[in-house]
Amino acid sequence: MSEAKIHMQRCGDMVRLSIEHPPVNALSIAVRRALLEAVLSADRDPAVRAIVIDGAGEHFVAGAEIREFDAEPREPLLNDVLLRIEACTKPVIAVLHGSTLGGGLELALACHYRLAAPGTSLGFPEIRLGLLPGAGGTERLPRLIGAAEAIKIMLSGEPISLARAAELGIVDRVAGSADLAAESWSWAAALARSGQLRRLREQSVPGGLPEASFIAGERAVALRRHPGVQSSDAIIECVTAAVGATFETGLALARSRFEQCRRSTPSRALRHLFFAERGDRSTAAARGVDRVGVLGAGTMGAGIAISLASAGYAVILVDADAQAVAAGLDRVRTTLDAGVAKGRMSRAAADAALECVQGRDSIDCFRDVDLVIEAVYESLAVKQQVFASLGAICRPGAVLASNTSTLDIDAIAAASRRAQDVVGMHFFSPANIMRLVEIVRGRRTSAEVIATARKVSRRLGKLGVVVGNCFGFVGNRMLYAYGRENQLLLLEGATPAQIDAALEAFGMAMGPNAVGDLAGLDVGYRVRRERKDPADDPRFYRIADLLVEQGRLGQKSGRGAFSYPDGSRRPVRDTEVEALIESEARRLQVERRVIADAEILDRCLSALINEGALTLSEGVAASPADIDAIWCNGYGFPRYRGGPMFYADTIGPAAVLANVRRFAAVHGPRYWTPAPLLVELVERGDSFAQWQQRRASIPGDP
Ligand code: 3HC
Ligand code: NAI
Repeated sequence: MSEAKIHMQRCGDMVRLSIEHPPVNALSIAVRRALLEAVLSADRDPAVRAIVIDGAGEHFVAGAEIREFDAEPREPLLNDVLLRIEACTKPVIAVLHGSTLGGGLELALACHYRLAAPGTSLGFPEIRLGLLPGAGGTERLPRLIGAAEAIKIMLSGEPISLARAAELGIVDRVAGSADLAAESWSWAAALARSGQLRRLREQSVPGGLPEASFIAGERAVALRRHPGVQSSDAIIECVTAAVGATFETGLALARSRFEQCRRSTPSRALRHLFFAERGDRSTAAARGVDRVGVLGAGTMGAGIAISLASAGYAVILVDADAQAVAAGLDRVRTTLDAGVAKGRMSRAAADAALECVQGRDSIDCFRDVDLVIEAVYESLAVKQQVFASLGAICRPGAVLASNTSTLDIDAIAAASRRAQDVVGMHFFSPANIMRLVEIVRGRRTSAEVIATARKVSRRLGKLGVVVGNCFGFVGNRMLYAYGRENQLLLLEGATPAQIDAALEAFGMAMGPNAVGDLAGLDVGYRVRRERKDPADDPRFYRIADLLVEQGRLGQKSGRGAFSYPDGSRRPVRDTEVEALIESEARRLQVERRVIADAEILDRCLSALINEGALTLSEGVAASPADIDAIWCNGYGFPRYRGGPMFYADTIGPAAVLANVRRFAAVHGPRYWTPAPLLVELVERGDSFAQWQQRRASIPGDP
């Protein structure tokens, strides 16, 4: 953790207190102590007539120090510091720039006046961490801008622009000159002369409480956008107190609700993800990338091309013949148009992206690209052929990436005869929307190439997680185990609707049967043929295979595990499928029974976690946090449960192991052999998180 300092600078009878705690000036205990001390000294000094508070570096203050929330609060609390600032007997001016978020905005609101540099963004993102503004934000913001706007800002969690903040009156002045320091000194001098102090705690909330219907509407939106957390109700309750109770009562309520939320599992889960999604991101060794070739203009190739072009890369999209290229370009155009229609992007941005994409029908034009992303059919033979050509054609140093979702990167790399340049970049569908990219490290992939894949992913606004090479890497390998249990449960007596409902009630964005229908059941079918699964189990993914054999490919054919009448995308229960499953179970002599929802959860989730533990001990996943980031960003695992491995820690690895052993006793060891890591954790009484911490403290261990 970087060192925290408050720099004091005098200018005549004014003092500037600059918070320096890189990278975002988070309000850690050290910052709070130093700031309190500096404010006390400036307020007591009779020679000081005004105090300016600003932040060093790129941001004013991005909030409280999130890591500290895992431990008990330490004094001085942020509230204590802010109350003291507000009580100052001389004007205190907050000078804002960059991100002014959470506790940072609360600090600004405790100051008497606010000046902001162009580009400042302000907001209360606490709800995204399952929290609420706990240092007076719920009490001061409504007093400044009214309860309705305050509720909107706090429930959305999204930052607002400076223009909007100025319009609402959150910011008193927008800096008009490039010299922010000079402007703040001169305004502070004027305020010192006037002697005026504006303490929000002394004001009442303009306009009172909004209509109940407004609050109910905002609450409903917030519950949808931020499921599983207690924040929405707590924020509404605290704003209601700002209107109807004293400042002290409201503040005490906010403090107590904040503590409840801080201790809750959903908030712990979301904080865990905050850091999981900011894992190892070193890009120091990255090669420069400007021009990118995308090979294969199908579903994924078109989506990847859009993503690259939207980030400003020059893209050449290549397919086997002119017709396929035209179809690919058409896919790019219609997807961009749909993005504009849905308000996801502006017309100008869509047009600019389209300008960046050229179509070609030969890879000869890849001679001078810096990176190729291959997205041809999922067949090792096809990909090896393609990589042999790329290896021969591309310039030395060009990075060659494959979007394969399951195949062996080393086998693909070997065909290129420059394996050090080959990496997996596994995008998720739709590639222009989904945030996750699994960056697959082959045996010989160079560190520079990994860094390049990371850097490109980041520029695309995506989350690149580096994983090892094996069938399905981390995400799809775990999905294979999870989906296997779904398929076996169907044969044993559960219906697609029951399984999906149980997992959706748990919080999955979609149940596995609806997901299969969305992705296309033929995709997995082909993967299993390529892999020669099932080796010796006629029940293995049998229902999915049967549906494909019956022409039920999912949404694309209007029928899969569910039916989709009249082109609708909403799954409808299909009794024909249920009858088909029953007759297949009879043929395979699988005994049917009533299956409880609890068993569905235990089977699917224990299989998922056990497989996750295997990827960890094999080193395919670098950490439990990486698995969590992958499953929450690529597979719709509920964020408020923190990902499969965090969830395993919340129920306890012993409970997971007990499930695995229970199912092994009934179904045999074929699919239910406990991962050695799971057994090790239970024997040591460790959690996955503790295991990770222990490993991180061993020098030389990755
Ligand atoms: N606490 C601790 N670390 C933080 C932090 C915080 N509030 N905000 C950012 N960081 C760290 C990140 O972990 C990252 O560390 P790393 O380099 O070691 O990985 C580093 O700062 C830079 O962050 P980003 O990679 O996210 O940088 P960006 O430039 O992409 O984004 C940002 C900057 C918009 C400020 C973004 O970091 C952000 O949104 N931060 C969190 C803001 C937030 O949630 N604030 C509310 C905290 S809760 C609170 O204030 C409670 C209060 O009411 C009492
Ligand atoms: P697709 O069938 O929609 O597109 C493949 C395209 O590649 C076609 O346009 C085809 O003409 C072209 N192609 C095939 N051989 C070629 C060659 N030798 N030279 C040039 N072009 C060639 O397939 P899709 O779904 O886009 O998948 C592509 C890759 O992405 C596969 O490896 C798949 O596993 C992977 N993937 C797919 C996901 C999905 O949900 N569809 C998700 C993640 C990865």
